[in-house]
Amino acid sequence: MVGKVLLTGGAGYIGSHTFVALQDAGYDPVILDDFSNAKKSVLDRIKLICQRSEIECHQVDVRDSDAIFEILNQGGFVAAVHFAAKKAVGESVEKPLDYIDINCTGLLSLLKAMERAEVFNLVFSSSATVYGDQEIIPIPETATRSYASPYAFTKLMGEQILEQVGDADPRWSFGTLRYFNPAGAHASGMIGEDPADIPNNLMPYIAKVATGEFEHLSVFGDTYNTHDGTGVRDYIHVMDLADAHVKSLKTLQKNSISHAINIGTGTGYSVLDMLAAYGRAVGKTLPHKIAPRRDGDVDTLLGEVEKAEEVIGFKTRYDLDEICASSWHWINTGAFQAAKEDNS
Ligand code: WQD
Repeated sequence: MVGKVLLTGGAGYIGSHTFVALQDAGYDPVILDDFSNAKKSVLDRIKLICQRSEIECHQVDVRDSDAIFEILNQGGFVAAVHFAAKKAVGESVEKPLDYIDINCTGLLSLLKAMERAEVFNLVFSSSATVYGDQEIIPIPETATRSYASPYAFTKLMGEQILEQVGDADPRWSFGTLRYFNPAGAHASGMIGEDPADIPNNLMPYIAKVATGEFEHLSVFGDTYNTHDGTGVRDYIHVMDLADAHVKSLKTLQKNSISHAINIGTGTGYSVLDMLAAYGRAVGKTLPHKIAPRRDGDVDTLLGEVEKAEEVIGFKTRYDLDEICASSWHWINTGAFQAAKEDNS
């Protein structure tokens, strides 16, 4: 093993996939999660994928810095990856204080625990929402950052906290990863996206149309300045995203130079492109209706991806059809059904 890595929010959608990728890369991942947006059954499914009899998992609130220090103080940790945060843009507008508390206080709590334990490598889950609404598409990492929601504010605040701490104290190395739109599932179908209630995001919503749970997809607007009038986004396979975390961590360990990079495919797909792609995976045309635009949506959100290859040697491997096929495989496995029944 090349060392233990603390995954805050490691039982969640991206965290669980990153656990698998880190284990495959020879690391020994340790999960910290409060299970407010994850189910305990995911631990058994990760064990099956990783062929492990046990997984070290601590049910801890990320704002409990002393508890995090006690875990890190066991020794052997080379880094942390910080996923634990609330991430629904719409909900953040309704509950700004909850988002600032968990997303910002939680980050500070983790950093203080890491400093006490002298663990100074951190990969931070950031988001393309720190770019707000941009004129220049695709968006370079040098673009001016802003925020259009409390959620985006917390991610920008997080990036600026890391910049300040990193500039002041050379012991720290930070890998800030600006995700575009994660989608898909692990090839085994044992883990995947499993939103607790009605999905906000496009892919899980389309999946529920494919299962018949929802009658049709509401397409939020078809008058955008895009090839077919519907919103264009950069959908990246969650296992590609997990791989980016491994490459970011390895780069930090090698050169101790902090980086902030876009993690996407560089290719944009519209809502109708996604619906057609998912229909190919399912083998049928999926119904939709045009609905009013959703507040806060932009025409196109797409980032430059060259820096990720230059700095951490990352390139995506999976295309849109593979993303949709992996999602549909997850929906159709017993694991998904078991997860639905898990009310832990
Ligand atoms: C994608 C497209 C919608 C649902 C958000 C967050 C971002 C990140 C990913 C955390 C848009 C359209 C959607 C539906 C639709 N989360 N849509 N009908 O808004 O690009 O990004 O999730 O990091 O921070 O902002 O993703 O999946 O919600 O929407 O037409 O039922 O699908 O209008 O064009 P988004 P999304």
